[in-house]
Parts: sequence; C-alpha cells; structure tokens
Amino acid sequence: MLDIAPAPTARPGGIDRADYDRQCQAALVSPDAYWREQATALDWIRPFDTVKDVSFAAEDFRIRWFDGGQINVSANCLDRHLATRGDQVAIIWEGDASGEGARITYRELHDRVCRIANVLKAKGIGRGDRVTLYLPMVPDAAAAMLACTRIGAIHSIVFGGFSPEALADRIRDCGSRLVITADEGCRGGRRIPLKANVDSALERCEGVEHVLVLRRTGGDVGMTPGRDVWLDAAMADVSADCPPEPMEAEDPLFILYTSGSTGKPKGVLHTTAGYLLWVAKTFRDVFDHRDSDVFWCTADIGWVTGHSYVVYGPLANGATTVMFDGVPNYPDHGRLWETVDRLGVTILYTAPTAIRALMREGDDWVTRHSRASLRLLGSVGEPINPEAWAWYHRVVGDGRCPIVDTWWQTETGGILISPLPHATDPKPGAATKPLPGVQAQIVDSEGAVLSGAVEGNLVLTDSWPGQMRSVWGDHDRFIQTYFTTYPGKYFTGDGCRRDDDGDYWITGRVDDVINVSGHRLGTAEIESALVAHPRVAEAAVVGMPHEVKGQGIYAFVTLRVGETSTDALQNELRQWVRKQIGPVATPDALHFTPSLPKTRSGKIMRRILRKIAEGDTAAIGDTSTLADPTILDKLLGGCKN
Ligand code: WTA
Repeated sequence: MLDIAPAPTARPGGIDRADYDRQCQAALVSPDAYWREQATALDWIRPFDTVKDVSFAAEDFRIRWFDGGQINVSANCLDRHLATRGDQVAIIWEGDASGEGARITYRELHDRVCRIANVLKAKGIGRGDRVTLYLPMVPDAAAAMLACTRIGAIHSIVFGGFSPEALADRIRDCGSRLVITADEGCRGGRRIPLKANVDSALERCEGVEHVLVLRRTGGDVGMTPGRDVWLDAAMADVSADCPPEPMEAEDPLFILYTSGSTGKPKGVLHTTAGYLLWVAKTFRDVFDHRDSDVFWCTADIGWVTGHSYVVYGPLANGATTVMFDGVPNYPDHGRLWETVDRLGVTILYTAPTAIRALMREGDDWVTRHSRASLRLLGSVGEPINPEAWAWYHRVVGDGRCPIVDTWWQTETGGILISPLPHATDPKPGAATKPLPGVQAQIVDSEGAVLSGAVEGNLVLTDSWPGQMRSVWGDHDRFIQTYFTTYPGKYFTGDGCRRDDDGDYWITGRVDDVINVSGHRLGTAEIESALVAHPRVAEAAVVGMPHEVKGQGIYAFVTLRVGETSTDALQNELRQWVRKQIGPVATPDALHFTPSLPKTRSGKIMRRILRKIAEGDTAAIGDTSTLADPTILDKLLGGCKN
C-alpha cells in the first residue's frame, strides 16, 4: 500500500471539498447564473446577452456560449495585466541547451505581439483569415499566436515534427495565405529544417503568399524574394501600437488538426470566449495557481496541451509560464530536475510517457537535484499507470506534492476530469471526478446509461464553454463523428471505469485512435501512408502495449504479388511512414502477412490483429466469421512475438 497523505486543506481562494460540491450543484441547477458568475474572470469589451444556447440533437444542433458578448483574447492575456504586472516575467524561455534561455516580461510580450500583429496586417491578414504556424518552442511562437488573436486571424499550428506532406495537407485544408516558421528548430542537440520543410510543403500546395521566418539558429536557409521575409526585420519596421480587435464570443479562435478513427486529420475549431474562459478557469482551479508560481507545462505548442496550458491558460491568469524547447533526456536524464531547480519551478505538468522513460533511468538522476521548489505535479495525455504515478509522487515529488491526473482532449479545449489539489484525496491512476459543469456518463455499447461502479464508454451529456464548435470546413463531419454514436450525447472515444467512490478511471481509446507517447494517431492515416508505397497492397495498423510510449504502432502489411518481404523492405517501409507523416508515426513493429483476416463482407477483423499485436494469441476468441479460416495460421506463422 502506498502511504499518501490526503488532500491538504485549502488555502484562501482555492477550491476545497465544500466549494467543489457547491459549484457542481450550482452548475447543474442554475447553469446560467453559474457561468455568468464564472465569466467575470474575463475582461469583456461588451457584455454578453445569453449565457448558453445548446442542443446536441441532430435536427436542432447548436453550441453557442456568451452570444452578444465581445472580447479579445490577447487583451485578456496581456493588456489587462500591464498596470499591475507589466514587469513581471510572462514567459521563461528554456532552450534546447541547458541554460540557454530568456525571460520576457508582460510588457515586452505585449510589445512583440503588437508588432507581429502589425506585420500580419501589413501583409493583408485580418479577421477570419487563417495563418499556419510551424515553429519551435520560442517566445515569439506564443507572441505569434497572440498576434493572430489580436487582429482576429485564426491560427493553425502544425507540430514541428510533422513532415512537409503533413504540413501541406493542413495548409491546404484551411486555406492559409500566410505561414510563420523559423530557420531551424533544435531538439536534443539536433537541428530540424523547419524553413526547408515549409519550402517543400509549399511546392505541394497553392495559396500561400507570405512566409515570415523567425531566426532561431542562424542556420543557412533559402529565402524566396517577394514571398519570404525575416520576422525580426519586419517587426522593426512597424509600430508597437495595435489596438485589439473586438471579437464576437463565437468567432473562430484557432484550428488544430487532430487524428480521428477515420480519414484525414480533422481541423478542430475552437471559438473565442468559451475557450478562453475554460482554459483560464481550469488553469486557476486545477493547478491552484498563485502569484508566486513558476508553471512548467512541458508540452509543445503544436498540441492542444501547449495551446491551453503553456500559452492561453497561464497568460490569461497573469502567470509565469515556462516554454521548453528541449527534451527531457538532453543533455542528460536529469534535465527536467536541473531545470526545475534553476528556474524555481513550483508546478510541473508533463506526460506519463516522459515519467516512465525517466523512471527507467533510475532515481539518482532525480535525487541529485533538490526539487524543493515543486509543490504540485500534473499528468496529461494518456492513462498513467499506478507504478509511474507512485514514482512521480514518491521520487519526483518527495511524497509532498499532490498529483493532478488531468483527462481531456483536443476537442474539449481544456481539462474536464481531474483531481483538485485541495478537494480530492489522491488515487494513483484515477482522473477522479468531473470538474463542476462537466456532465459525464458511462454508457454501454448500445447507449444504455450505466450507474454505480461500472465500465463502459465515456460520454458527456451537456456542453461546457471550452467545447470544440465544428470541424473546419465540414460541420456535418463534426456532428457525425461525435454526436451520432450515442444520439444527443458527445462521445469521447474513450473507455472508462467508475469505482465505488464515484471516481473515474480512463482506460484508453475504444476507437481506432492510438496514443503513442501521448500523441494521437489515427490508424487509418498510417495505413494510407503504407498503401501509398508502390510495393504494398494492403495494410492494417493497431496499437500494441509499449513500456515507455504507452502504446506502440504495430503494422500488418500485405505486399503486392511478386514482391518479397525482406528486412531491407521492412526498414524502408518504416522510413517511408516516417517521411510521409513524421517521426511520431514510425511503426514499432512491421509484420508481413500474405493476407489480412477479414469477415465475409470484407471488413478487417481488428480484434484479432490487436490480440496478435499484444502477443495474446490464446485470447483471440471467436473466429467463426472469418472468410478464410486458414489465415490465422498464416498470420501467426509470420508473427514476431
Ligand atoms: C487520452 C490531450 C487517460 C485520451 C490533452 C483522450 C488521457 C486523448 C488523459 C486525447 C488522462 C488524455 N488519462 N487518458 N489523464 N489525458 N488522455 O486530443 O484517450 O491529444 O481521448 O489531447 O488522450 O488526446 P489529445
């Protein structure tokens, strides 16, 4: 048994058990009054008329919050703090090399944001225009995001680890006319050719008129005259005065592409006021934010965690946020803890995959650093196994720091299910309780609501302000993907167990999405990359258990007639996927098979493939619906396990 202290008593302003119960009740009984009160945390240009106008029913579908209100995100993240904390550090930049960094105050950040906004305006960008960002983790990346919000442009950030192909797809889908990138990125001592990747992406898609290039490494890059300009030079040429654009509450704020179980990644669309309120509130409440905190979320801004908890949530609260441009094992496995000590980090928010990887290297890397500044630890992105939780708590947190295991999704904008440090007794591996205003249910595969201690699929029966509003360019796909499996309810795609205390344990995806080191990948995407190879006839991809990554990628591949499976081809195919999508999508295992197990109607029986990938062939179960029963022997013959 673990000896874990119960939740400490609340500090003034923090949420204790009684507050939690009160807020849940208020949000349920009188949502309008509750959210009206919560919305006072933001500065509005014009007050809203209606709080909430929501229906999840297909025939009458709408999700609208704070209609009539006008607001600007950058003004909430910057201008309103200037009088009281203009000289406070907003962003501590920690580069790839240990000690390489900078501190940017709120006043300096405001100046940079206004300048970038004016550069964008000078290039003809305004309200509703899409801007694609392909950037390293540097303060000007946050400034570029805020600059878009200042003038009402919609940013679409593409993770710097994505390939030119993936970048081109995303630029094309949202029709960006302008791209902001850097000469190169730096990760773990290696250079990433960001600008060269943009050049190659732009050969594959049309419509981009301008590329702004940030100087990160000083590396040599080609500049296309008339299209490409250096951001620093352009910023020096414009004024630092740029009034914030009054935006309607439901105006689009950003697009972020994420993988689903079918088709291409979809552009998740978030809107202005609801998203901002949700991230501001959850940052304040879940991390129990205080003025003296140094908050470090290790996520990249290319993912939603970086959007919500590196940039918008912290800055909306006037916090000091760390932007980390490196990796946890460079220059050595003590990097996180050395940095925690050097920067005086009080709250650390990271992913189970990083915790597991560091745990393997031994306690010494951690214990040789003090970590005395830490007071709260967070986890996000995938289920945290109890062993990793216990190590995080005992070794990293010296048994003193509460852990918040926060469950949420790109679609939810911010945290939905999580412990609150002063209201929840710790429970290793459980995301515990829905936050106030979050109406969770567990249903069976037919949609019947399950009560008590049960396991099933997690749905949300009502809206919260931070909910995504649409899929960019395809509203029907939004409704189809999330609201038709269980009509009238939002389906998360996650499995979930509820225990006797009413605590929620997320068990992982129940659809064809796999979670590799906290990165979401659709099996369909990897399959289509594989079949695009001239020697591949067919492919099926499933997740497999992986000690560090949580899930690994296991690909079954059928070659075209006349092709032979060799180690060289196996390698080539892994590299092929890497090039098509990006390093995160590289298959961990590649299994050649003469054919795939299918039903008589031609549907691939993934259940069987999953069992093989898990090495659990004894549990394959019913195979009577297989069109070709001999396929199993053939498959197992080629099995690597
Ligand atoms: C998984 C990341 C268990 C889940 C914020 C979800 C988690 C998907 C947790 C969303 C957690 C995220 N416990 N599983 N604390 N947090 N997940 O869109 O399967 O990149 O559906 O958002 O990650 O991944 P996404």
